[in-house]
Amino acid sequence: MRHFQFEQHGIVFCLTLIYLQCHTTGSHSLHRHCIATQGTLFPKNIQFLMLDDITVYYYNSSFGKDPPVPEWLNHSKGLNFWREISVNLKFNRHVMATAVRLTAEHFNHSDDHVYQAHGRCDLNADGSILSSMSHAYDGKDFVSFDVQTKSWTAAVSQAVFYKRKREVDPQDLNRLAHHYQHECIEWLKLLLQYTVKLREKKVPEVRILERTDPTTSAVEITCHVTGFYPRAVQVEWLGAGELPLQDGVKSGNVVPNEDRTYQLRKSLTVSEGVQGTQTYSCLVVHSSVPENITLPWAPRRKMPVWITPAALAGAVVMMCVALAVAKWRGALVSASQTSALSHIMCWKRSASVAGQNLEAVRKQNQKINDEGSPFLGSHPG
Ligand SMILES: *[C@@H]1O[C@H](CO)[C@@H](O)[C@H](O)[C@H]1NC(C)=O
Ligand SMILES: *[C@@H]1O[C@H](CO)[C@@H](O)[C@H](O)[C@H]1NC(C)=O
Ligand SMILES: *[C@@H]1O[C@H](CO)[C@@H](O)[C@H](O)[C@H]1NC(C)=O
Ligand SMILES: *[C@@H]1O[C@H](CO)[C@@H](O)[C@H](O)[C@H]1NC(C)=O
Repeated sequence: MRHFQFEQHGIVFCLTLIYLQCHTTGSHSLHRHCIATQGTLFPKNIQFLMLDDITVYYYNSSFGKDPPVPEWLNHSKGLNFWREISVNLKFNRHVMATAVRLTAEHFNHSDDHVYQAHGRCDLNADGSILSSMSHAYDGKDFVSFDVQTKSWTAAVSQAVFYKRKREVDPQDLNRLAHHYQHECIEWLKLLLQYTVKLREKKVPEVRILERTDPTTSAVEITCHVTGFYPRAVQVEWLGAGELPLQDGVKSGNVVPNEDRTYQLRKSLTVSEGVQGTQTYSCLVVHSSVPENITLPWAPRRKMPVWITPAALAGAVVMMCVALAVAKWRGALVSASQTSALSHIMCWKRSASVAGQNLEAVRKQNQKINDEGSPFLGSHPG
C-alpha cells in the first residue's frame, strides 16, 4: 500500500521533472534471505539478495557452485561490487550454518530443522533510511537485531542463549550495525545505478475480454492489464458517475510475465437485468503514464437479423482465433507464475520438510509477498 502511494506521487513528479530524474525518485529496498537447514533433503544453505524485485544474487548449496555474475553487473565496476558482496555472502553461510547447529543443539533437536534470517534496508523517497533484521527457527520468530541500540532481542526464552552469544563480541555488533546503517544503503545506491535499464518503466497494455454465462446470461467483463513495470498498479472498474465499483468486482493478483513485466486481471459481473442501462470503464493508474488509462465497455447489441452466413462464418473464425490466443496467453501466464513463485516455494518447502509451524511460515510468506522480502545483515546468524 505504502509502495503504491509512492507510485502515485511518482506520477506527479513525472509531470514536473524530466524522465531521468523521475527514475531516481522513489523508495527502494535491498533485501536478503538466508536459509540454513539441518537434516533435511532441502539444500543446506540458500541465500538471495534482491533489489526490489530484481535478483542480484542467488545461492543454493545443492548447486555446488558460486552463482554467476548477472549480465548487468558484468563490467569492471560491477565486477568489483560483485566480489565485495560475494565475500560478504560467503561469510554469511558460515554464520547461518553455525546458527542452525547451535540452535538445534540447544533444543536437543536432531532431526529436520530450518533456520532463516532476513533483513532489509530501505531508502525512502524523502531520503530517509530504515532497516531491520530478524531470525526465525522452524518458522517462528527467534531473535532480532536493533541497529540503533546495537542489541539483540530474543523473541522466545529459548533464544536468550543466542542473543547472549552474539552480544559477547562488540566487534560483531558494530559490524552488523555499520552494515545496516551504511554499507547496505551504499550497496542499494550502487545497485540503483547499475539497474537503471532493468528498471525502465513500461506502459501497460489494456484490453477488455467478455464472457457470457449461458445459464444466468450475466456478462463477465475482464480488464486485462499487462506488460507494465514497475509492479505497483491500480485497476478499477468504474460505473455511473465514474465511481469505482465494489459489488461484483473480482480481482486477481499482480503476477509476473516472463519478460520482467507484470499483469493483472480484474473482472466485473454485469447481471442481465442491468445490461444496457449503463456503460462501464476500466481505469488503470500506473507510474509509466502521467494520464490515467481509461477503456470503456458498452454491452454488445443483439445480433442484427440481416447477418449473412458468410459474415457468421467469419465471426466464428475470429472467435476461434481469439480463443486460441487467450489459451496461449493463459499457458504463458501459468508458466511465468510458476517460475516467479519458485523462490517463495522454497520457503514453503523448507518448512514442510521440517514439518513444523507451517502456518507461521505461511504468514511470513504473506508478509514477504506484501512487503517484498526483507534484507539480512552482513553478519547474521
Ligand atoms: C538447488 O539446486 C539444485 C541443483 O541445481 C536444484 O535441483 C534444486 O531445485 C535447487 N533448489 C532450490 C530450492 O533452488
Ligand atoms: C562476462 O563478460 C565476458 C566478456 O566480456 C564473457 O566472456 C563472460 O562469459 C561474461 N560472464 C557472464 C557470467 O555472463
Ligand atoms: C536438552 O537436554 C539437556 C540434557 O538432557 C537438558 O538439560 C535441557 O533442558 C534440554 N533442553 C531443552 C530445550 O529441552
Ligand atoms: C487518475 O486516477 C486516480 C484514481 O482515480 C486519481 O486520483 C488521479 O487524480 C487520476 N489522475 C489523472 C491525471 O487523471
